[in-house]
Amino acid sequence: MLLHILALAGTSAAQFFDTTGGFRPFGAGFNRGAYPQDFSVVGPELEAVHDSQTPPTGLAVDKDLNIYLTYPRNSGQTPNNVVICTGFNSEEPWPSAEIQNCTAGQDPSTCFLNVQNVVLDSIGQLWVVDSGIPYYTATMSGAEAIYGGAKIMSFNQTTSEHIRTYVIPQELLAHSMNANDVRINNTLGTNGYAFITDESTNSSILAINLDDGSAVRRLLNTSVVRADEKYVGSYDGNLIYTWNGTKKGYSTTGADGIALASGNFYWGVLASRRFYYISQSVMIDTSLSDDEVLAAVQDPGQCGSEQAGFTADDEGRVYILASEQNAIYYVDTAYPVDETVNGIPGNSTGLVPAENYVVKTLVRNGMIQHADSAAILDGWLYFNTNQLELSPSRQYNNTDNRKGPFRSFRVWIGRGPAI
Ligand SMILES: *[C@@H]1O[C@H](CO)[C@@H](O)[C@H](O)[C@H]1NC(C)=O
Ligand SMILES: *[C@@H]1O[C@H](CO)[C@@H](O)[C@H](O)[C@H]1NC(C)=O
Ligand SMILES: *[C@@H]1O[C@H](CO)[C@@H](O)[C@H](O)[C@H]1NC(C)=O
Ligand SMILES: *[C@@H]1O[C@H](CO)[C@@H](O)[C@H](O)[C@H]1NC(C)=O
Ligand SMILES: *[C@@H]1O[C@H](CO)[C@@H](O)[C@H](O)[C@H]1NC(C)=O
Ligand SMILES: *[C@@H]1O[C@H](CO)[C@@H](O)[C@H](O)[C@H]1NC(C)=O
Ligand SMILES: *[C@@H]1O[C@H](CO)[C@@H](O)[C@H](O)[C@H]1NC(C)=O
Ligand SMILES: *[C@@H]1O[C@H](CO)[C@@H](O)[C@H](O)[C@H]1NC(C)=O
Repeated sequence: MLLHILALAGTSAAQFFDTTGGFRPFGAGFNRGAYPQDFSVVGPELEAVHDSQTPPTGLAVDKDLNIYLTYPRNSGQTPNNVVICTGFNSEEPWPSAEIQNCTAGQDPSTCFLNVQNVVLDSIGQLWVVDSGIPYYTATMSGAEAIYGGAKIMSFNQTTSEHIRTYVIPQELLAHSMNANDVRINNTLGTNGYAFITDESTNSSILAINLDDGSAVRRLLNTSVVRADEKYVGSYDGNLIYTWNGTKKGYSTTGADGIALASGNFYWGVLASRRFYYISQSVMIDTSLSDDEVLAAVQDPGQCGSEQAGFTADDEGRVYILASEQNAIYYVDTAYPVDETVNGIPGNSTGLVPAENYVVKTLVRNGMIQHADSAAILDGWLYFNTNQLELSPSRQYNNTDNRKGPFRSFRVWIGRGPAI
């Protein structure tokens, strides 16, 4: 090192510039920023599991390792709304071809209008969440859900048979409700609860009692579900606005990704770098006022990325799909954790208090191009990618800069699902 400094001291200023591209002043591993490709790839290898020709938003994996994807109709019709993957490049409509398209005059609670995600619960049922916003209105400003169309439906994973439908009550569809994601806790209450994020601009969170179908809508239009004012994200090194032709705007997408862990409900606000959690029992307690529910929301600090998807494992670890960072983050919500934080040893027991949450990176890799949904099974975390930020509404003059195929991957975590 000494010789090196002496050498530099003896040269003229112009010769400080290295044009060979192969110059590492202090040797590999000792410095950063010597090469343009000095981005760190973090974590274990990604294993490709499926290629989609069009961008998928939702993903589930059933107990037999079948992969399901959703192709929503937010920017127009898609042939199939929900599919099961039958090979690396092949798919079939699921649970049937007939259910994929509501037809004129059909009861919209019996067919798919605009399914956003599909998830597996802990008792072998697959659930779909349908925003109920038909494809022919979805791209219009102020698009509204159709009553009956906005719903969750459960199916038997073994037989694909429909089990039950819970329609979102008419009065909860006000203020442009836009159901985006769902998670089920089968052991909460008498017959379980479903939790749904409403990603509309006003935004809110719903809980549906799976026993009697009654529903509550909480946190409507509060700061913990609304986007940041004039939010600007970044993606692959470019800044992301919304565009209508040459008219510039800002994403206003609200509460989006969800996970259930440690008896809490976790969510992120998409057009922000914020995430929160609240006790599931508080969310379902209809005797509480809206102010009491808002006061119970926990704020563990920002997570450094826009995020569209969350999932959780059986040890209380919540995973955050960090689209701005080509990464998947994680945060431990229950002890033990890796290190002492604020004086609390990592080998403690119980739940981690919000102020001690430390978000970390599980994987970071150029192949993670807007991971959107994730599911955990048999030690693997599965996720899909869809390049959302490169889609027409987020690109200048509505150019579609997405370049498929859109790959789904899995990464080894050695843990099982929370739910
Ligand atoms: C759904 O409707 C679209 C448009 O009419 C059609 O292209 C597609 O094949 C239909 N899907 C199924 C599964 O029938
Ligand atoms: C885009 O702008 C056009 C023309 O001003 C308008 O009619 C349309 O509703 C806008 N689209 C959205 C999604 O806001
Ligand atoms: C699904 O169907 C199988 C075969 O009929 C049955 O054994 C199982 O109990 C069903 N599961 C659910 C969750 O209904
Ligand atoms: C929010 O709710 C208000 C009141 O219902 C409604 O006028 C407005 O259109 C909603 N905002 C958006 C962006 O949907
Ligand atoms: C929602 O909140 C925003 C920002 O605080 C406010 O401007 C707007 O009036 C509210 N809308 C409704 C429907 O309450
Ligand atoms: C589901 O609810 C039960 C009963 O309240 C609770 O013990 C459990 O922790 C919840 N599951 C998760 C993953 O949060
Ligand atoms: C945590 O580790 C410390 C130091 O190794 C030990 O003294 C303590 O008993 C451990 N606590 C638990 C709950 O395991
Ligand atoms: C925007 O795209 C349209 C075609 O979709 C094109 O005609 C127009 O010239 C473009 N405008 C600008 C400012 O690039």
